[in-house]
Amino acid sequence: MTHKILVTGGAGFIGSFLVDNLVEKGHEVTIFDSLEPQVHLGKTPDYLNKDAKFVKGDMADYEKLKGLVSDSDVVFNLAARVGVGQSMYQVKEYVEANELGTANLLHAMANEEHSVKKMIIASSMSIYGEGSYKCESCGREFHNVRRTNEQLEKKQWNIACPDCRKELTPVGTKETKPLSNSSIYAITKKNQEEMTLNIGEAYGIPSVALRFFNVYGPRQSLSNPYTGVAAIFMSRIKNNKPPLIFEDGEQSRDFVSVHDIVQGCVLSMEKKAANGQVFNVGAGHKITLNELSATLIDIFGSDVKPEFPGEFRKGDIRHCFSDISKIKSKLDYSPKITLKEGMEELVNWSRDQEAKDMVDKAYRELKNKRLI
Ligand SMILES: NC(=O)c1ccc[n+]([C@@H]2O[C@H](COP(=O)([O-])OP(=O)(O)OC[C@H]3O[C@@H](n4cnc5c(N)ncnc54)[C@H](O)[C@@H]3O)[C@@H](O)[C@H]2O)c1
Ligand SMILES: [Zn+2]
Repeated sequence: MTHKILVTGGAGFIGSFLVDNLVEKGHEVTIFDSLEPQVHLGKTPDYLNKDAKFVKGDMADYEKLKGLVSDSDVVFNLAARVGVGQSMYQVKEYVEANELGTANLLHAMANEEHSVKKMIIASSMSIYGEGSYKCESCGREFHNVRRTNEQLEKKQWNIACPDCRKELTPVGTKETKPLSNSSIYAITKKNQEEMTLNIGEAYGIPSVALRFFNVYGPRQSLSNPYTGVAAIFMSRIKNNKPPLIFEDGEQSRDFVSVHDIVQGCVLSMEKKAANGQVFNVGAGHKITLNELSATLIDIFGSDVKPEFPGEFRKGDIRHCFSDISKIKSKLDYSPKITLKEGMEELVNWSRDQEAKDMVDKAYRELKNKRLI
């Protein structure tokens, strides 16, 4: 069965791959996107799918949004401002775009005539804060540990067991882990998620929240210094500059290819078992930043060496990677792309791109705001 699908943020990195996949499956897709200048640099992306309808507009524009909602039976809500560091000083802009934008969409769900049968919100692993840990020595598990700035200033990067003081081992983070938001961005994602599930339940619109981990792939903004670390490292290496790694590089994340994220999105739309649920969407294993930078340096055949200025970002977590057993068992999700394959795809795509190295600027800006 084909659907009329609205994808907010459909001109962005993840949204555009989702749109391509949905169009390919024969759905009638409408993209709603403001073409945020920081992401799109004043241009309409050339990858925008020609077989999808494009409506330029802001999530703040209720009048435009309500018409689109009335005409859809599935809504993917991906439009958002996405910079964690930036959200700490553009507080108003982030709350406006993410929370009020989603509020507008939900207001339409509650007040307009429509036949929306599924609503999917893009949430984020950033709402977990520090991931889950286990103490190999005493066997206890910990789901709400946190590093203090004091500890980081002493360069004590790892987390010790509160009982036996042995270093804790990171384990996969489940959806049930208590949330711990350490940025305005994370708070907006958590609120988008809760607001969507709440309105979905109140009005009987099956809704799903997907917690994406660290997504990478072609079309990722290379000039936006606030997005993924893979793109940042890549643009440094490409410009023959060493990647700057915070802490000692042994911190880890769950890097997941955009194609696997799209798989998670489509399964959530197609399967009833997704309704009312929250799912992690990740690769399901940890990659340290040292491993990531080594993989990229190897792919480029570069001889740059990463630099470790010994600095850290306030509020940064040490480890967080997904436990994907829930989405595997309920939706048959199965990530397909290895880190090497995914990074090769990213690098091949970037060779044709004009990469502006804006990392220095971002670094200075965060430093001025005393966030590093
Ligand atoms: N990339 C990741 O690693 C990651 C991880 C977790 C969650 N997410 C979430 O996935 C979604 C997509 O992220 P992405 O990485 O593709 O980012 P992106 O910046 O490439 O895409 C976001 C799109 O939303 C649009 N947009 C922003 N504000 C808008 C507004 N007020 N009105 C209309 N459109 C607006 C932008 O123009 C852009 O095209 C976001 O909700 C983000 O929070 C991304
Ligand atoms: Zn212990």
